[in-house]
Amino acid sequence: MTPSRRNLLVRAASTAAALAALAVPATSPAQPLPKLKVGLMLPYTGTFAALGNAIENGFRLQIAETGGKIAGREVEFFKVDDESDPSKATDNVNKLVKRDQVDVLVGTVHSGVAMAMAKVAKDSGTLLIVPNAGADAVTGAMCAPNIFRSSFSNWQPGYAMGEVVAKKGHKKVVTITWKYAAGDESVKGFKEAFEKGGGQVVKELSLPFPNVEFQALLTEIAAAKPDAVYTFFAGGGAVKFVKDYAAAGLKKNVPLYGAGFITDGTLEAQGDAADGLFTTLHYADSLGTPRDAAFRLAYAKAYKLQPDVYAVQGYDAAQILATGLTAVKGDISKKAEFAAAVEKAKIDSPRGPFSLSKAHNPVQDIYLRQVVGKENKLVGVASKALTDPARGCRM
Ligand code: PHB
Repeated sequence: MTPSRRNLLVRAASTAAALAALAVPATSPAQPLPKLKVGLMLPYTGTFAALGNAIENGFRLQIAETGGKIAGREVEFFKVDDESDPSKATDNVNKLVKRDQVDVLVGTVHSGVAMAMAKVAKDSGTLLIVPNAGADAVTGAMCAPNIFRSSFSNWQPGYAMGEVVAKKGHKKVVTITWKYAAGDESVKGFKEAFEKGGGQVVKELSLPFPNVEFQALLTEIAAAKPDAVYTFFAGGGAVKFVKDYAAAGLKKNVPLYGAGFITDGTLEAQGDAADGLFTTLHYADSLGTPRDAAFRLAYAKAYKLQPDVYAVQGYDAAQILATGLTAVKGDISKKAEFAAAVEKAKIDSPRGPFSLSKAHNPVQDIYLRQVVGKENKLVGVASKALTDPARGCRM
């Protein structure tokens, strides 16, 4: 080919390319959507710091497993340490909603902080996925089409344990917890089922969150001589409570039962003091399903840590988000369609598949577990497909 003919061909080709480029807007697929702005509001300091980290790990693992994207959109994270402090909660959530203008809020661990988040989400219409906090009101009186929970209501593990302890034949129980929504509601759920089953809660002990000066209360328990004790504590406080309970000599005389947070993510630190404890929760360390085994392996590989219930809840928060966002092809403004898709979905959780109730709380099996060595071993299902009563939810 002569040089001039080649030039002509090259020019013709580039003209065709230029024309094709001009035609792009009319015929090409839409521009990729901008990054999805995810606001993580979690405790990264204080008694619940480990819980916040496990939730974030689980959330990120799910995204990594789907190619680093959610429903095809890249993700940009905005993070706030909420310190489990309700007095700072409204300011903190507004940093994410107003300053950073996030598309979705994911948080938090503490029920009091979560209620402030739910209020802002309800008022602003921002999508909120709660990856732990059990505040009954979040999927009760404060329920909303844009608020979802991947975890539990405080009522759920408490209620399941009330049935277990009644069936074991215990009659008189003392309860002990932190004085705030989670502790109060966990005890209330326990009491509802336990008293229905013929037992009686003879004393309700509490101390302010996040105090860990248990000694005076343990002395009261010893004096009351109940058949058993029911407790809700979590994180660093749970570690200390279980050790103090054993050190006070109570463990061998008065059996201790709890919502499973008392021994989840805490067993390394609790050592022998936790051995043998029975708890109820929507997860256990030995479910033995292929789904859970794959999750546990992936988590251990990614973080060199064993997962716990908080990691599962973070992972499932990402699954809920991906389910809704896939249905709206990444367009988060389509809120009604997003909600409709999540409402009819079965979430393929490591805990076992679950769906969301009308109030957007998981309908799930609550397991009875027992601490053996460093594991919360599955004993059986305490309550099958337990649905929170969603008191006060009009939706
Ligand atoms: C809560 O405040 O709702 C809460 C905190 C820690 C837990 C469980 C529930 O492990």
